[in-house]
Amino acid sequence: MLDPLLFGEIDPPQRLLMGPGPVNAHPRVLRAMSADLLGQFDPEMTGYMNQVMALYRPVFGTTNRWTMLIDGTARAAIEAGLVSLLQPGDTALVVNFGRFGLLLQEILTRIGVSYETVDAPWGEVVPIEAIRAAALRTAPRVIATVHGDTSTTMAQPLDGIGAIAREVGALVYVDATATLGGMDIATDRWGVDVVTGGLQKCLGGPSGVGPITVSDRAADHIFSRRHDERGIRAAGAVDGPGARIASNYFDLAMIMDYWSEKRLNHHTEATSMLYGARECARIALGEGLPARYARHRAAGAAMSAGLRAMGLTLFGDDAHRMTNVTGVYIPAGIDGESVRTMMREAFEIEIGTAFGPLVGKVWRLGAMGYNAMKHKVLLTLAALEATLKAHGHVVPLGEAVPAALAAWEAAS
Ligand SMILES: Cc1ncc(COP(=O)(O)O)c(C=O)c1O
Repeated sequence: MLDPLLFGEIDPPQRLLMGPGPVNAHPRVLRAMSADLLGQFDPEMTGYMNQVMALYRPVFGTTNRWTMLIDGTARAAIEAGLVSLLQPGDTALVVNFGRFGLLLQEILTRIGVSYETVDAPWGEVVPIEAIRAAALRTAPRVIATVHGDTSTTMAQPLDGIGAIAREVGALVYVDATATLGGMDIATDRWGVDVVTGGLQKCLGGPSGVGPITVSDRAADHIFSRRHDERGIRAAGAVDGPGARIASNYFDLAMIMDYWSEKRLNHHTEATSMLYGARECARIALGEGLPARYARHRAAGAAMSAGLRAMGLTLFGDDAHRMTNVTGVYIPAGIDGESVRTMMREAFEIEIGTAFGPLVGKVWRLGAMGYNAMKHKVLLTLAALEATLKAHGHVVPLGEAVPAALAAWEAAS
């Protein structure tokens, strides 16, 4: 028998999470998550589910009826979207400019979908004309793209992508995990069909549910694939004419029926996560989305200005930066991991490492959600300056913080 006193109560250090996510959750979100549990069909609970649907519509910039949560981390929502839209033998086009474009391809491969890609080198985005040309050439059922790819810190412009999809008869899937609640997500204006997010970035919550919105066009297609599972199907239920969705857990037809007045007993909604997601959206809408986007812009501008004032070089194309996470080259001769360790141990600040071709070359510094605050950006820059000095790197001392402060004020 394990001695229950062997491990202490959870009491983590007070780290300031200034990487590409997760970030510190807003205290209101954590408080909401500690509220008492309810049965999943309790009218209070289904009322909260309906409120979540209403709260996330403006966050996604949509009037889509089907706006809800997928239980699981952000990739659960991505997988639910793709597996419900596509079946083996379908073709897709992936707009690929970083690690998360590769993730879309990985998921499509597992579903058995053949796909083509339209690519940009890491640090750039794909021009909209290139997407159109590739869509005309490949006539895909779905165009799948990431909005903000945290691996490269680039934000793909999506204005016009819906019109391209209409032209070729495709649906559009967008991974907005890293930008939802921090940059303008315009589902309806872009004319895109399925958009998914996560809480642990700009929405300032913990990971554990992925908000999702589904257009009526996409919902019609998904419902045509409805095959309710045997143990819960209503007497006389008729299957849709389309192919059964290849995942039970991520079957959006059943999940949408769960979030509808049918209340199909699909999974047991993750109650505490729903409370947290509800509070994330309440905080975002309470602040006002334009003000929130401006705060993220100011934080990104301040971070960039401070890093540059330290003599560092930013990674990637200036014209397409995400506002909430900034990539910066590790100076020559500096051990990036040693700097991250000192930042954590001496200052309790976490900054991000990188993936793939950028490993060991780039740090990623985030300022998002509850952490897109002036003092948190300034503290991070001051700590990085001291850490670089301690590592023997010659830094222009005392320049970063005033530069960041000025950039924050100019951007606000
Ligand atoms: C753009 C993007 N997509 C997807 C994910 C995956 O999210 P999760 O780890 O919550 O599954 C992330 C996480 O970093 C991300 O930044």
